Amino acid sequence: MRIYLIGFMGSGKSTLGKQLSEISGLKFIDLDQEIEKLAKQTIDQIFNTQGEAEFRFIEKTCLDRTFLDDNIIVATGGGTPCFFEGIKKMNRFGISVYLNCGKGTLFHRLAKDKKNRPVIKDMKDVDLAERILDLMAKREKYYTKAKIIVEEDDIDANILWGKLNERVKE
Ligand code: S3P
Repeated sequence: MRIYLIGFMGSGKSTLGKQLSEISGLKFIDLDQEIEKLAKQTIDQIFNTQGEAEFRFIEKTCLDRTFLDDNIIVATGGGTPCFFEGIKKMNRFGISVYLNCGKGTLFHRLAKDKKNRPVIKDMKDVDLAERILDLMAKREKYYTKAKIIVEEDDIDANILWGKLNERVKE
């Protein structure tokens, strides 16, 4: 079983991924951390020194590696499904879950936690709101291809684990 949590920055992929891993016993993989390990740089440093295109390539490489692993829960980065057919591959080799967090909630969470995220770093709040709307408009068509869509901002991990098991039995 391979579960891929997808969604915008701040939608809670890593937090939920860790909780699901504890409930299920499946191994938790944080794709951003895998990227940092492979590049031996922080995400911010990769963007600054190598640029976004190279970051996306490293991200794709790390995603592809997860298809060789099994019994895993992967928290992806906000852009992972949208480049190099990421969502198509996740759906082929696993179950994707889109955390469709409300834009207001995303804004409040991200306004407090911009510094480690190069795509929104150093933005004023007014620009951040616009950036969220712009990026969402581009990304929603990838996110909504997920096999499971969660509409709550803070879904209980036990409830999601139940839904995932029903899905596997189908
Ligand atoms: C990105 C999201 C980040 C990280 C990188 C780019 C994006 O991950 O991969 O900063 O393009 O949305 P999180 O969604 O875990 O913050």
